[in-house]
Amino acid sequence: MTTRPLSVAIAGLGTVGAGVLTVLRENAGIIAARAGRPIAVTAVSARDRTRDRGVSLDGLRWYEDAAALANDPGVDVVVELIGGTEEPARALVEGAIAAGKSVVTANKALLAIHGAALAEAAEAKGVALAFEAAVAGGIPAIKALREGLAANEITRVTGILNGTCNYILTQMRERGREFAEALAEAQKLGYAEADPTFDVEGIDQAHKLAILAALAFGRPVDFPAVHVEGIRQVSALDIKLAEELGYRIKLLGIADRSEAGVSARVHPCMVPASHPIARVDGVFNAVVAEGDHVGRVVLEGRGAGAGPTASAVVADLIDIARGRTTPVWGVASGDLAKLPNLPMTSHYGAYYLRLMVVDRPGVIADVTGVLRDHGVSLESMIQRGRSPGEAVAVVLTTHDCEESAMRAALARIEALDAVLEKPALIRIESF
Ligand SMILES: NC(=O)c1ccc[n+]([C@@H]2O[C@H](COP(=O)([O-])OP(=O)(O)OC[C@H]3O[C@@H](n4cnc5c(N)ncnc54)[C@H](OP(=O)(O)O)[C@@H]3O)[C@@H](O)[C@H]2O)c1
Repeated sequence: MTTRPLSVAIAGLGTVGAGVLTVLRENAGIIAARAGRPIAVTAVSARDRTRDRGVSLDGLRWYEDAAALANDPGVDVVVELIGGTEEPARALVEGAIAAGKSVVTANKALLAIHGAALAEAAEAKGVALAFEAAVAGGIPAIKALREGLAANEITRVTGILNGTCNYILTQMRERGREFAEALAEAQKLGYAEADPTFDVEGIDQAHKLAILAALAFGRPVDFPAVHVEGIRQVSALDIKLAEELGYRIKLLGIADRSEAGVSARVHPCMVPASHPIARVDGVFNAVVAEGDHVGRVVLEGRGAGAGPTASAVVADLIDIARGRTTPVWGVASGDLAKLPNLPMTSHYGAYYLRLMVVDRPGVIADVTGVLRDHGVSLESMIQRGRSPGEAVAVVLTTHDCEESAMRAALARIEALDAVLEKPALIRIESF
């Protein structure tokens, strides 16, 4: 067994990069024992050399140009913790692989967009491309799906994969806040970025779901095929009404595999309050996998932050130090299955529909008539209060139907005179 330290370069010394340095130092003993040799950071890169990062950089080679780390002959493994789908992160990862170095990254956006090509390059070079930290931070979701559950046909993966959105939805429920207020608070506490678009629009969660779907179903990563809706439209009223109906509203990422193909979608969902995922609150993440022999497996933990994310990065480094490798997506790139994508319009499920209508005779009959015309059958209907001639909330839940029928009915309902504002439509998820 070799005892030569594994020499690591880290590009990006922000939250995660500094966290990796800290974990490697604080747990050096157990990490070396588990890796079979010490793991030593020897070179780093970031933009601002003068910035205090709370960790010492003494004795480390400093690179202005992150991509140049790829060609440092003293480096075995490059850890990319800059972020973004293009330069310098992409050039660094491509360059390191081309130079025959293994790569560890936490960059879900890069993997969701360029993961197929990067995996082919890594496999051609016989190096590792490891990304445990890219999905659900400290939860070992990648290893669980790719290795721990490898004996199973995975039929479904569900996740709460964005702590910012889960924190906002939790605040809305617990404190009755509206979205904008809960977002502002999340920003103040550092749980949301100044520009929260990637998080609240569901894009970050869709990147992660695309990665999980590729691993679960052994198919090429396909981000454009993910249907994405964020949480901006979720109102405090709908969260309250959901609770009365026995549901919680969560932003879920769901990837399903059936005979017909694969569907992957990120959108707010009504989840039965008794399901384990309904109780994953605040900044926590969860991944639920369903396998044909194992049944349901639920993983929960911290999805972001210096410690949890660094924990996952270091786990990848330990695997590389030990020489443990698997194909990037679980099966060799050339063996990935070409499964068809199913469009969202063919989604089959139940719906929650909340309307603000003028309280006058015949309105409910008009709404239910439209639903009947499109073959959508009602499970329940509640009118909130009575105030003749004024606006009242009407909540309908449907039996399972095809999304195309629901959308067609919704377009007609929205156009009714008595319907005062854009209806809220939220899918009810059955498990
Ligand atoms: N934060 C989390 O909890 C978390 C969780 C899971 C995955 N991730 C992923 O991990 C990656 C890093 O996230 P982070 O939160 O640590 O980001 P961050 O705090 O913004 O740090 C980014 C680092 O990259 C450096 N950088 C930016 N542009 C650079 C360039 N052109 N050349 C060299 N260095 C450059 C920055 O340098 P300066 O410090 O000098 O500005 C900074 O040190 C991202 O892909 C992110 O999606 C993060």
